[in-house]
Amino acid sequence: MAHKIKTIAVMTGGGDCPGLNAVIRAVTKAAISKYGIKVWGIEDGYLGLIEKRLHPLSYENVSHILSLGGTILGSNNTSNPFKYPVESRTGGSTGSPQRKVILKDVSDSCVRTLAAKKIDALVCIGGDGTQTCAAGLAKKGLTVIGVPKTIDNDLWGTDVTFGFDTAVTTATEAIDKLRTTASSHHRVMVVEVMGRYAGWIALHSGIAGGGDVILIPEIPYRLEKVCDFVMKRNSWGKSYSIVVVAEGAKEVGGKMVVRETVAYSPEPIRLGGIASKLAGQIEQATKLEARSVTLGYIQRGGTPTPYDRILATSFGFEAMELLVNGIKNRLVVMKNGKLSSVPLSQVAGKTRTVPINSPLIKAARAVNTCFGD
Ligand code: F6P
Repeated sequence: MAHKIKTIAVMTGGGDCPGLNAVIRAVTKAAISKYGIKVWGIEDGYLGLIEKRLHPLSYENVSHILSLGGTILGSNNTSNPFKYPVESRTGGSTGSPQRKVILKDVSDSCVRTLAAKKIDALVCIGGDGTQTCAAGLAKKGLTVIGVPKTIDNDLWGTDVTFGFDTAVTTATEAIDKLRTTASSHHRVMVVEVMGRYAGWIALHSGIAGGGDVILIPEIPYRLEKVCDFVMKRNSWGKSYSIVVVAEGAKEVGGKMVVRETVAYSPEPIRLGGIASKLAGQIEQATKLEARSVTLGYIQRGGTPTPYDRILATSFGFEAMELLVNGIKNRLVVMKNGKLSSVPLSQVAGKTRTVPINSPLIKAARAVNTCFGD
């Protein structure tokens, strides 16, 4: 098929997740072997583009990486081409130079970097921060196709992102293991999972792992409801309980627990710490022994599940199909079991959270799972 694209670049931005390499492989292999298109790899997400760090990718470079976790290109979740921090020296009133950081728009320089290498299009593999920047670059005239990545599954426009299934599998295996030790010691085990402002990982791993309590950001909880439920289980002879809590969960009228704020990041807020806080509160209120575990980055690591490998391969191939068919500035998505695409401009800045009328929540409630409401 005739097409104008001769050279593309591929990058992975934001927090890493299993399946990134499978997408890089699919894009690169399809580009080289099906269409004779040259491929460049941009290192460390937008940071590499800003710093002009890119290298050619060969067919051989992407062999044997399908099942490899992480990303061979590296990633970064603190750089934004539209708000790049640079130090400037100004003459102070006393005459001594003062240092201050200013946020510069370096997006034109990014576009020039790609043009200098005769790169016709960019495949951006990333979550909402990465895709929001991709939409901005598209407005500058760049041809961009986004591929939806994130363990959080919170990208607007797609029913699923690759990386999510692996994270849920990892979290479920951890819950299974925590159940046996919670049972031996008759404890309340509070397990914190990632997900940012969405409760997808908590809901899915909580249901798969048989969590007795599942707390998600979409359903603010009441501490007394959680404690009453745990006590009730105790009175039924269930001497232990598993509480699966999303890092973004919050009490009714309360706030999310923030671990740190990362200056200049497209997503400056980093959540974390709710499990430890909640375990202390439960122990104090119920007098039952409680422990907390934060699963953290193990949810982002390791080899992708077969489902994620297939999804990532399909997404990567679809990205190339769109490009060679002259379609641009869209995000590849999976909708109702079918591959399609949506405009990048529609995705920018939005989050897909769990609908509170989700059939999964109904099913969980039917098996007596407490959501703390
Ligand atoms: O978006 C993926 C994610 O792992 C979130 O679940 C989590 O809140 C965040 O990234 C952690 O970011 P960082 O790698 O900067 O600590």
